[in-house]
Amino acid sequence: MFTFTKAKKLIAAVAVSTAAIFTMTGCGGGDNAASDNKNNDSNKLRVGSTIDFAPFEFQDESQKDYQGFDMDLIRAIGKEMGKEVEISNIGFDGLIPALEAKNIDVIISGMTITEERKQKVAFSEPYYQSGLTMVVRSDETSIKTFGDLEGKRIAVQIGTTSATEAKKIPNAEVREFNTPADCFMELKTNGVDAVINDRPVNDYFIKKEAITGLMVLPDRLTAEEYGIAIAKNNTEVQQLINEGLKKLKENGEYDKIFAKWFGEENK
Ligand code: ARG
Repeated sequence: MFTFTKAKKLIAAVAVSTAAIFTMTGCGGGDNAASDNKNNDSNKLRVGSTIDFAPFEFQDESQKDYQGFDMDLIRAIGKEMGKEVEISNIGFDGLIPALEAKNIDVIISGMTITEERKQKVAFSEPYYQSGLTMVVRSDETSIKTFGDLEGKRIAVQIGTTSATEAKKIPNAEVREFNTPADCFMELKTNGVDAVINDRPVNDYFIKKEAITGLMVLPDRLTAEEYGIAIAKNNTEVQQLINEGLKKLKENGEYDKIFAKWFGEENK
């Protein structure tokens, strides 16, 4: 499981490494192989994802393949496309560069469709409605809504929409970390006052990791949609991805995957 204690153990390693080292670090066996092969053989769909974002993409120690909603979805889309799916774990700020360098064919990583990213990559149709909320310590009294974050210390994952939004808050001190788990750790140890991160990930982390001393606040900062990113000129793959997604929505497979990870929640 993507546990807090495991994250703690990882922290030492993370502290001495850089985002660059994290780039293209495939871990785990099975279909989780990093690939440096630029001549993609067309039977493969090379997928990049940042495996630190439960319940969308995470590593469960008891299983060799990466787990999560995005992982199930892209494997199902790959199946529709008749392609073998190969997933590489890449630091979040390294995903779009890896796509541009043609080291991967698509990104699925809880990635929000934004105008800024659309300058660099193409997106599939949206596949998940998300948005940002914040996590604070359970004994926090001065922060109740996003308006209270002025002048506060905020942790965010590097390269994310949370980072962009946090930087707009007047006088806030924004600190960027490699993973959401690093952000939560920093909050727990009083290094920051709040973590801004994606709502479903905050909910899952607090509920499933049984973290004591932290809570999610109900205030929502943004509404965002996740999309699968494809290289700008790769209209063939973009079309196949959209067709696959459409098929899975029509045949009930998307609903099954959704229910597996989110229960009966509204789509
Ligand atoms: N939705 C946010 C964004 O697009 C955060 C995504 C982070 N994904 C991850 N696998 N860590 O910026």
